[in-house]
Amino acid sequence: MLLNTVLTIAPLLVLLRGAAGDLLSDIENALRDATDCASCHALLLPLQTLAHRGDSAFVDTFISICDDFQLEDPDVCAGLVSASGPILAHDLRQISAAGQTATKFCDAVFGLCDPPPVNAFTVPFPKRAPAHPTTFKSTGKTPFQVVHISDVHIDRFYTVGADANCTKSICCRNFGDETGPPTEPAGPNGNARCDAPETLADSMYEAIQQFAPHAAFTLFTGDVVDHTDWLVNKSVVTFDLAAFNFDMVTKLKGPIYPAIGNHDTAPVNTFPRDTTITPLETQWVFDTQSAGWEPLIGAAAALQEKHTSGSFSAVVPGMKLRIISLNTQFWYKQNFWVYDSEVQQPDPNGLLAFMVQELQAAEDADQRAFIIGHIPLGKEDTLNDQSNYYDQITQRYKNTIAAQFFGHSHKDQFEIAYSDFNDQTADTATSIAIVAPALTPTSGNPAFKIYDIDPDTFEIMDAKVYITNISTPNFQSHTPQWEFYYSARATYGPVTSPPLAANAPLDPAFWHRLTEAFETNDTAFQQFNTFISRGADVGACDAACKASTICDMRALRAENNCDGPSLGISLKRDERAQGRMAESDACEGRSIAHIFRSLVNRDDLTQDFARLRRSSRVPRSVLED
Ligand SMILES: *[C@@H]1O[C@H](CO)[C@@H](O)[C@H](O)[C@H]1NC(C)=O
Ligand SMILES: *[C@@H]1O[C@H](CO)[C@@H](O)[C@H](O)[C@H]1NC(C)=O
Ligand SMILES: *[C@@H]1O[C@H](CO)[C@@H](O)[C@H](O)[C@H]1NC(C)=O
Ligand SMILES: *[C@@H]1O[C@H](CO)[C@@H](O)[C@H](O)[C@H]1NC(C)=O
Repeated sequence: MLLNTVLTIAPLLVLLRGAAGDLLSDIENALRDATDCASCHALLLPLQTLAHRGDSAFVDTFISICDDFQLEDPDVCAGLVSASGPILAHDLRQISAAGQTATKFCDAVFGLCDPPPVNAFTVPFPKRAPAHPTTFKSTGKTPFQVVHISDVHIDRFYTVGADANCTKSICCRNFGDETGPPTEPAGPNGNARCDAPETLADSMYEAIQQFAPHAAFTLFTGDVVDHTDWLVNKSVVTFDLAAFNFDMVTKLKGPIYPAIGNHDTAPVNTFPRDTTITPLETQWVFDTQSAGWEPLIGAAAALQEKHTSGSFSAVVPGMKLRIISLNTQFWYKQNFWVYDSEVQQPDPNGLLAFMVQELQAAEDADQRAFIIGHIPLGKEDTLNDQSNYYDQITQRYKNTIAAQFFGHSHKDQFEIAYSDFNDQTADTATSIAIVAPALTPTSGNPAFKIYDIDPDTFEIMDAKVYITNISTPNFQSHTPQWEFYYSARATYGPVTSPPLAANAPLDPAFWHRLTEAFETNDTAFQQFNTFISRGADVGACDAACKASTICDMRALRAENNCDGPSLGISLKRDERAQGRMAESDACEGRSIAHIFRSLVNRDDLTQDFARLRRSSRVPRSVLED
């Protein structure tokens, strides 16, 4: 009986599995087989064939798959695939399915490969490190204040009363496909499922005036645009950038030193390299920001911004301090333009060379420097190669760089660089990167930081966090109230061994000692874990989570982080992909990579593809051999 059934259905199964032998069945079979890095390389072969049939064949196929498999709402499928699909198709036409770029592509798009080992490259420097570097000594002057805001993600189309409980990754808007009345009408001041309404942003500008009325300057580490990644286009992004530039000029006191984020372009994350795409397709971003930032950073820096792919350097008026703002997106794995060549390009658009040039100028002038950028260099989502080269620059100019400032993760975090990553001690700790929490309420209570900075050494004396608590009962009925949350000096100074001395800076050695305190003092570590999201939706962090969190604190070089489980056949596919994506989810919203990752993690591809064939939505060209 059983045997009979098997014999009867077997031919049927063959039919369903795509006996047709067309391109669609090749894609189906390759997707089903894609479980590891080698099979991901194999999957790229039919995808390349599809890409060669044209961008629209590629885009239409994946929109129909995304829709038919219900991977996202139809508008999200159409928006994400139309915007980013042509870039992936372009990549696939340029590279070998067996090459190293394909391995990186499989890591970024499917989460099925580990990043390849770092390609050795020695960053050239104009001068050797001085034998007797300038020493910057504190004379005990009163610190000045610096404000740090990040990831504002202001939704200029936030709609009070729209559903905050929608079917998409970001809500509180009328998307036009609602099927009933809102189950949770959006309040005026924000919601954890939505990006920041203007009222919330305005309350933060007021809080900054209130808590730091005499701040010397403000740092903004990027991400202006909201997370409706499937809707953004050049006109919306230009509008959003201009609106926030206007806010900075009119509602905050200057100078303000901004950086470009991965959301500050369209399609999201995309910044082509000048070696492979000319003219630069995202020059409009740099032009918009150059014009909008000129009142904040001055004409010379604005011109640099325009001509250095969104990076600039400026000396703070009246200080021996140079701010170097870098467009970190050229080192970002989810910028799919970086996979369009087999040729190693160690320094896309010359930004590492620019960083060297500006640090050398600072060293020559006995200035100190702050590096600012959007994406901190230590996480899983930065390319290991460029992170390694960046670290070489950090090490060469460790005496000049006083501190580094980033955003992107939406979390209150820090990352340490070491002169020897194999010997991580307070003595080898050479640089500190502070990661600011976000204004957008999607990953914790809205927050910003105020630093106390020593005017002689430009070292951080304290980092204080201010929040507004979106869970307070009257949050929607009044202007959001901001409050002091914690001081790093007051909270962490006493727990290190030895405790932080009065007047000692929060230097790299201090932050390393703090990681040691976290190892032994779980109370202190759990407090940090609460601070990450400013006390909202605090995730439990067990011993394994704690170990990888501390590992990441000690990794301002991506090859040293402990993000995501390592690949192995013992892991289920979706656990693996989700683990790797989890860290970047908050910063990413929904990208085309989510669609591709969901595809290789589906259990019912056979049925799905059979239904898709019946739907006759697939382009004819894909149904040919
Ligand atoms: C959110 O929406 C879902 C689906 O429409 C519904 O089942 C759920 O009850 C809603 N949640 C709230 C808090 O209204
Ligand atoms: C850009 O997106 C907006 C809103 O999503 C839309 O109204 C507009 O027509 C789009 N513009 C272009 C040029 O596609
Ligand atoms: C925010 O407010 C809620 C409700 O009053 C409270 O339970 C929570 O502890 C507050 N969070 C912080 C970080 O103060
Ligand atoms: C551990 O940390 C807690 C909270 O930060 C602090 O109160 C306590 O004194 C620390 N314990 C030791 C032994 O340092």
